Amino acid sequence: MSIQPSRASAASVGQAPGWWRRAVVYQVYIRSFADANGDGVGDIAGIRSRLAYLRDLGVDAIWVNPWYPSPMVDGGYDVADYRAIDPAYGTLDDARLLIREAHDHGLRVLGDIVPNHTSAEHPWFREAVASAPGSPARERYVFRDGRGPGGEEPPNNWPSVFGGPAWTRVASAGGGPAQWYLHLFDPGQPDLNWENGEVRAEFEAILRFWFDLGLDGFRIDVAHGLAKDATLPDLPPDADPSVPEDDHPFWGQDGTHSVYRAWRRIAEAYGADRVFIGEIGPMGPDGQARLARYLRPDELHQAFNFDFLRAPWDAAKLRSVIDATLAPLAEVGAPPTWVLSNHDVTRHATRYGRPYSGLEAWETWVERQPADRALGLRRARAAALLMLALPGAAYVYQGEELGLGEVEDLPEELLQDPTWERSGHEWRGRDGCRVPIPWSGDAPPFGFGPSGCTPWLPQPAGWRGHTVEAQADDRTSMLELYRTALRIRRTHPGLAGEELTWLASPPGTLVFERGAGLRCAVNLSGAAVPLPTARTTLLRSDAGDEDPLPPDAAAWYVGR
Ligand code: GLC
Repeated sequence: MSIQPSRASAASVGQAPGWWRRAVVYQVYIRSFADANGDGVGDIAGIRSRLAYLRDLGVDAIWVNPWYPSPMVDGGYDVADYRAIDPAYGTLDDARLLIREAHDHGLRVLGDIVPNHTSAEHPWFREAVASAPGSPARERYVFRDGRGPGGEEPPNNWPSVFGGPAWTRVASAGGGPAQWYLHLFDPGQPDLNWENGEVRAEFEAILRFWFDLGLDGFRIDVAHGLAKDATLPDLPPDADPSVPEDDHPFWGQDGTHSVYRAWRRIAEAYGADRVFIGEIGPMGPDGQARLARYLRPDELHQAFNFDFLRAPWDAAKLRSVIDATLAPLAEVGAPPTWVLSNHDVTRHATRYGRPYSGLEAWETWVERQPADRALGLRRARAAALLMLALPGAAYVYQGEELGLGEVEDLPEELLQDPTWERSGHEWRGRDGCRVPIPWSGDAPPFGFGPSGCTPWLPQPAGWRGHTVEAQADDRTSMLELYRTALRIRRTHPGLAGEELTWLASPPGTLVFERGAGLRCAVNLSGAAVPLPTARTTLLRSDAGDEDPLPPDAAAWYVGR
């Protein structure tokens, strides 16, 4: 059976050019969202079966993590074929159906494009390995001779993000010296050479393929990493490889901007409602200003706000991130975005229950401080009201609306994230935020798949209170908090615009006004704080309406 492209059904989501400026986008980590065929791995049919849930939750769009054929050395961010669906997830016809049905539910669908690297199993890389140094096949990647006698040292000192060196040596091919290839991530993810015209043309064709199929846009993986300094200079010995500074040889190089200008022209040819969101950064000091350069009117539409995600639960720090976000983005006319969790970081309901320690969202050390679950959950509820009251777009990671915490006791033999092995077992990796989510019932698989199926990562027994079923209609639940907040966000005129005015408030609190007198107050101090007595409360994270507002709680109200 062949199913026609779903362009016609795009009408059901409306031709709204600026929809993304204030959208709430729900991140579907496909492996762990819903499993229709019972093999323990989520799939497209599973997403289709839950579209009504997503519509009723009140989000505007979904972003689906990579679904392409992949050896899965990095959860699918190692793509072997950019124009197909991994058989574990379904078929292209399933993808067409998903897009069509999502549109019918009023939801847009964003894919995940991975342009920095392919899989080592991609036909291009196989061809490159089998070809001689200097051949056109090798030019699509970053191959270099090694240093030292016999070329036995890597070409430079760049580290892989996942631990160990960013270079792997291949066997000698075609009689030349054995060369090294660059992989900023796993050796199974060779970096492409974005100076190469064939690489650029291929990705432009891939974008058209998916736009033709009906996708509404893309999240762009490692969007600030494509261009490299062609001289491949060593990093200074004390450089923090994760935080780009000016002139970093592989993060934030200027050569990347021309790629996105070409992509934007392609998107515009399909209509002003097609959108790109870049995974950029965090960009270090002055990060939002650096980020804004990717969001100029002829480049990307949005970028994730990792400075917000990594900020500690501290009023002054959050306020400074919010201010540092709004000004530079306004200058280029891009909407701000807000995000608390994703598939790469410790879930925030756990993070906020721990004393803050720097870059901790990405830190998954084997030895970690225990988290205070109740405190983390209270703060996660308040953080949801903060995020959803801010102007711009928000990104919700599957399961945060259920109050899921990080699963920190997965058995070591089940860990799949490559960082576990590459760090020599110092980092547990990101599996703890990727555990299949609970829908219903009292025991695993909690409705994730048909009963009797074994989810690819084990779910904690304690999740029985976190299922959608257990939380639905319970007005004190996290799920109902999200549903109500999203309904108010969609319907209240006060949240329609892009304005924000800070109001004077006690130390350790954040109080701001949007339009129509709608205010958001967040108490991050250790003591209760009074709210104005003349107010109409719209929503409270602590589900009460008492005055004063307790610590770690937030309120939406209309002041009078
Ligand atoms: C991005 C993805 C992450 C992946 C990496 C390499 O950061 O979010 O999951 O491991 O890129 O593709």
